[in-house]
Amino acid sequence: MRILFLAHAFNSLSQRLFGELTRCGHEVSVELDINDDVSREAVALFQPDLILAPFLKRAIPADIWRERLCLVVHPGIKGDRGPSSLDWALMTGETRWGVTVLQADAEMDAGAIWATSEFALSPGQRKASLYRNEVTEAAVAAVLQAVARVAAGGYRPEPLDYQRADVRGGWRPAMRQADRAIDWARDDTTTVLRKIRSADSQPGVLDRIAGVGAYLFDAHPEHRLRGEPGALLARREGAVCRATVDGAVWLGHLRPRDPEDGYRFKLPAAQVLYRAAAELPESPMPFWAADGPTYQDIAYREADGVGFLSFDFYNGAMGVAECERLLAAYRRALQRDTRVLVLLGGRDFWSNGIHLNRIEAANSPADESWANINAMDDLVRAILTTDDRLTVATLRGNAGAGGVFLALAADHVVARTGVVLNPHYKNMGNLYGSEYWTYSLPRRVGEATGRAIMDHRLPLLATEALELGLVDELAGATPEATAAAVASRAAEWAAADGVDGAIAAKRAELAAVGGAEGLDAYRGQELERMRLNFYGFDPGYHVARYNFVHKVPSSRTPLYLARHRSLRHEPGQGSREAVASAG
Ligand code: COA
Repeated sequence: MRILFLAHAFNSLSQRLFGELTRCGHEVSVELDINDDVSREAVALFQPDLILAPFLKRAIPADIWRERLCLVVHPGIKGDRGPSSLDWALMTGETRWGVTVLQADAEMDAGAIWATSEFALSPGQRKASLYRNEVTEAAVAAVLQAVARVAAGGYRPEPLDYQRADVRGGWRPAMRQADRAIDWARDDTTTVLRKIRSADSQPGVLDRIAGVGAYLFDAHPEHRLRGEPGALLARREGAVCRATVDGAVWLGHLRPRDPEDGYRFKLPAAQVLYRAAAELPESPMPFWAADGPTYQDIAYREADGVGFLSFDFYNGAMGVAECERLLAAYRRALQRDTRVLVLLGGRDFWSNGIHLNRIEAANSPADESWANINAMDDLVRAILTTDDRLTVATLRGNAGAGGVFLALAADHVVARTGVVLNPHYKNMGNLYGSEYWTYSLPRRVGEATGRAIMDHRLPLLATEALELGLVDELAGATPEATAAAVASRAAEWAAADGVDGAIAAKRAELAAVGGAEGLDAYRGQELERMRLNFYGFDPGYHVARYNFVHKVPSSRTPLYLARHRSLRHEPGQGSREAVASAG
């Protein structure tokens, strides 16, 4: 079938569905929701059999849904309606939730039901994490079922009927800041966490902190520190700790409300509150995994002769500080007597490369970009040149741009079955990229496929990455299952005789490229191109970064997505078929 996506943004869920439906043999094209006439034009050009709205913030124009079948992916159970479904589900402590595929209709979310899929909801989850994991998996199941029903023909969707026993939702309005507000003199830690996490990553909870009006994000419980409810107690790297009535929480990121309080995009809390934070006692981040809940974005532990270095940076963004801290922890992990070292990425993201928000906020974004890419390269170099043990990259969450090439530095790359990879830099204003990609990508997939992956700019499903050789193994359908599968595989490797042979082979391979100096030739060549991106005449990267960080809405759909608008609209051109055929 020809399926047109109408989407507010080509976000992670849209990317995953795009990949899955293309893989099922459908012809998929994307139009970003820019305005109604543009949507109408896309429909006229593409003549789709089906319109799918995986992530839409506005209603589809009535003339479109009257003329063609339009299905909307709603992140709620059967009967749930309204724009804040996940927020309410988390705030009211639902234990089961779901995704429903509805036919677009005059009333919001009241159309006939084509498919639904449910999942268990754990208390205290972060909304974006829920969206990137449980919601995405349920949406894939429901959309594939709905699309199969459309393709088969004859299926009669179920009208929304609140008399039915399995319809238990209802209309809930947009959640307001008043519904989310924290009362620091009354709310306990569980309540504070629930309020912040049900609003994370958007819109955040509006609050006042150290005299600054700001939206709160990235909250973690603290098991030791205590103080006057509402008071700031300590600072740890970019986070600040604030007392509640029965404990304390760490706040990792803030977005100032008013321009006079700084940039109006998310930054580490200690950076936004720099004056107040400077007066707080520093509570050092432990190297070993803490024995109770606290804020720890890098943690080391050992089991069965395997070292596990976990890192979980908010939004997968790695600034100079994150790269340097991870490199220091990596070096410390190398001093331990283990034969296998597992790098375990976060539940939501493995890494999305350099920290674009911090770069945007720097006095000289060009200098900060340069420092950041060099810090990232230093980390990648340390992993690439580790020649006394096996390294395993474990992608529990998605990875983008330089984050993907950070993973390729390891000897063995394992990914969760549902992750989406964006192994290219060009979407950020034609950035050339570094992270030794010119060494690690062709080494894994060959020159032609490597070039096609970099050029085609589209996301890759984990299964496609496996087929291309970009990753070595898929394990587990949930982040927890992936971690467990890697732990048991790594324990087997650590105990196996074959590990010494694998380590010897990698030493030989490194020697063949001239050791660390040989690798640095790749880095030097990449950085020459990056220097032009950062300091050269073409402002493409700086403009793209500004738009990305400030969330400037797209004014047109890029042609690599809007295949109905592309002159290259024949299969095999600028598409994932091109990558497959290059392989
Ligand atoms: N630096 C800072 N923030 C980043 C980031 C980065 N490198 N990559 C992602 N983010 C943030 C987004 O701004 C967004 O913030 P929010 O919490 O305020 O909404 C959040 O992470 C999630 O990103 P989003 O784009 O909504 O996620 P996605 O899963 O739909 O898309 C990517 C993932 C990787 C395709 C997309 O985030 C992206 O293109 N990131 C930039 C990658 C890049 O160019 N890095 C620099 C070169 S190494």
